[in-house]
Amino acid sequence: MAENKTQTSASARWQVEALGSRHAGRVMAGGSIAGSGTMAGALCDALETKDGQVLGVMAGGSAGQAPELAGYLWLARLAFDAEIQALGVAPQYRGRGVGDALMRAADEAARRWHSERVLLEVRAGNAAAMALYRRHGFGVDGRRRGYYPPLAGGSEREDALLMSRAVGV
Ligand SMILES: CC(C)(COP(=O)(O)OP(=O)(O)OC[C@H]1O[C@@H](n2cnc3c(N)ncnc32)[C@H](O)[C@@H]1OP(=O)(O)O)[C@@H](O)C(=O)NCCC(=O)NCCS
Repeated sequence: MAENKTQTSASARWQVEALGSRHAGRVMAGGSIAGSGTMAGALCDALETKDGQVLGVMAGGSAGQAPELAGYLWLARLAFDAEIQALGVAPQYRGRGVGDALMRAADEAARRWHSERVLLEVRAGNAAAMALYRRHGFGVDGRRRGYYPPLAGGSEREDALLMSRAVGV
């Protein structure tokens, strides 16, 4: 694995794998993670795509229980860049390094693809995601005003922040 100064002992314990159509059942069971930017059906379709990769962390599976999807990151391969389409960690696994492990794996995929940058967009009020992205070297390039519909219970549309980082920096 490439050296990465953002690796933590918490994230090192999670194994990230490339998900495929064999994971469709698990993705349908756990793939609609609130706030992740996608629904389980769209994520299932992405499992088949040739223009990217869905990375996942499967967890549990002890005592006769089937492993469950702890988190996923859908990375699209564009002509010159890679773009994070969706990222989600199941609530019971948050704060334990899963998001960090997925971000490191996405960076490795972008390196393999010789992408110039990794791009993403995020709700301006999503403090947890912003902290994760900043920790991984992303900076804000721009803002789309009122891009996102209100969150449940809210009435105000929310700005999108466009973020990127150069690959290999
Ligand atoms: C954002 C999300 C993916 C983070 O995943 P996670 O597995 O909980 O994150 P990790 O445990 O790997 O944390 C890594 C770093 O992210 C940041 N972070 C994570 N959760 C945070 C929180 N609630 N508040 C502030 N920073 C947070 C911290 O910098 C943290 O490092 P630290 O623990 O050393 O401080 C997760 O909260 C989630 O799925 N949220 C809902 C979906 C979502 O918002 N997706 C992003 C859409 S753009």
